[in-house]
Amino acid sequence: MEKNKNIFIETYGCQMNVSDSEIVVSILKEAGYNQTNDITQAGIIFINTCSIRENAEERVRKRLNYFRSLKKKNPGVVVGLLGCMADRTKVALLEEEQLLDLIAGPDSYRDLPHLLNQIGNGQRAINTLLSLEETYADITPVRLDSNHVSAFISIMRGCENYCSYCVVPYTRGKERSRDAASIVRETRDLFEKGYREVTLLGQNVNSYAWKNGSNPINFAQLLELVAMVNPLMRVRFSTSHPKDISDELLYTIARHPNICKAIHLPVQSGSNHILDLMNRKYTRENYIDRIEAIRKIIPSCAISTDIITGFCDETHEDHQDTLSLMQWSRYDYAFMFKYSERPSTLASEKLADNIPEDVKEARLREIIDLQQKLSYQSNQMDVGKHFDVLIEGVSKRSKEHLFGRTSQNKVVVFPKKNRKPGEYLQVMVTSFTSATLIGVVDES
Ligand code: 5AD
Ligand code: SF4
Repeated sequence: MEKNKNIFIETYGCQMNVSDSEIVVSILKEAGYNQTNDITQAGIIFINTCSIRENAEERVRKRLNYFRSLKKKNPGVVVGLLGCMADRTKVALLEEEQLLDLIAGPDSYRDLPHLLNQIGNGQRAINTLLSLEETYADITPVRLDSNHVSAFISIMRGCENYCSYCVVPYTRGKERSRDAASIVRETRDLFEKGYREVTLLGQNVNSYAWKNGSNPINFAQLLELVAMVNPLMRVRFSTSHPKDISDELLYTIARHPNICKAIHLPVQSGSNHILDLMNRKYTRENYIDRIEAIRKIIPSCAISTDIITGFCDETHEDHQDTLSLMQWSRYDYAFMFKYSERPSTLASEKLADNIPEDVKEARLREIIDLQQKLSYQSNQMDVGKHFDVLIEGVSKRSKEHLFGRTSQNKVVVFPKKNRKPGEYLQVMVTSFTSATLIGVVDES
């Protein structure tokens, strides 16, 4: 019987995983497979997974149960688990779930066509080896769920910072940077296809390092090369580590109007005691110094952050330090999480996860409440100001409105008139809701 070569892929976790799914589809298309958005038509179902917190893994397990019910109806369907959960859980998943036909880690996607060929007669295929070199530099990703305006470009893989709470060094392996020329080429290619925004992705983009012969290229230089592809191509990047964000990078951002004025700078905690236990390699004072540098060199820059609450041994005073640093930094936006212990990490081996769940929850609530106030104040400051907006699409709430983003990464909704996605315009902000600015188009 002819095999059903339609692949359905579902992605969990960070932007890097979204980017990886695009690489997976590209590799499999080359090998004669097709991508489908209709799971009922799929002969192969892939789930690209995340391990960052316990609840991310739980979500994946729930989906696997659903796939099990599909497989009961149609035993021929192949179910494969990709990404960050591949290694940690492979044995348990295979033996307990009796569902997966294939398991592939983040560095083994080139092997997928071969792994798929191995499956059959009850045989399963696994490759979870991590690599020191793989960057998928030569693969042109197939853009999934794309608005044809903005795209992700992965510029490096892995992480070697070993923050004590974090599973990423174990799931994604050693840090390696991708060939700068291939990144510039991909940007140019996207521009020619009509894209107007790229986001350069890495776990810690500030430590990007590529050697072009004897000529080393750091992240500030790469960002400049990408920004110079075309002034109409907006450039974003994520994520920055506070210990590595240099003045050189800030001046580069300030110099190029098309490098977006938004920096995501995860603080994790405002307490030196906790930052030390987290192995973050900076102090509260170092962090404040970096925020001051951003405010001085790029006055219009938005700053967002990640915060973990309820980390091992966190006292009431440590928690107050986080609240006061949030207040001081005036974050425009924040992602906030309860600490979730992950197997293999330094914290799981050396520190006790000793903050009771109800305390973690109460602290998280306080942090979220404070951030809501800060985000409200940040939006309020935008009222009456004019922003360059790149149009991304039609507003979900009204067909008569479009939405786009400011350089500071805020979503703005405004009347459609005869404008189209991919175009720039100037909008004056007139009001806002909790998540969106509302504006009118400047008539010029
Ligand atoms: N528990 C809770 N949050 C975590 N993060 C990373 N590891 C954990 C963990 N074990 C958060 C950090 C990071 C973001 C991507 O996820 O804030 O910056
Ligand atoms: Fe991304 Fe980390 Fe989740 Fe892996 S574990 S998908 S790197 S957030």
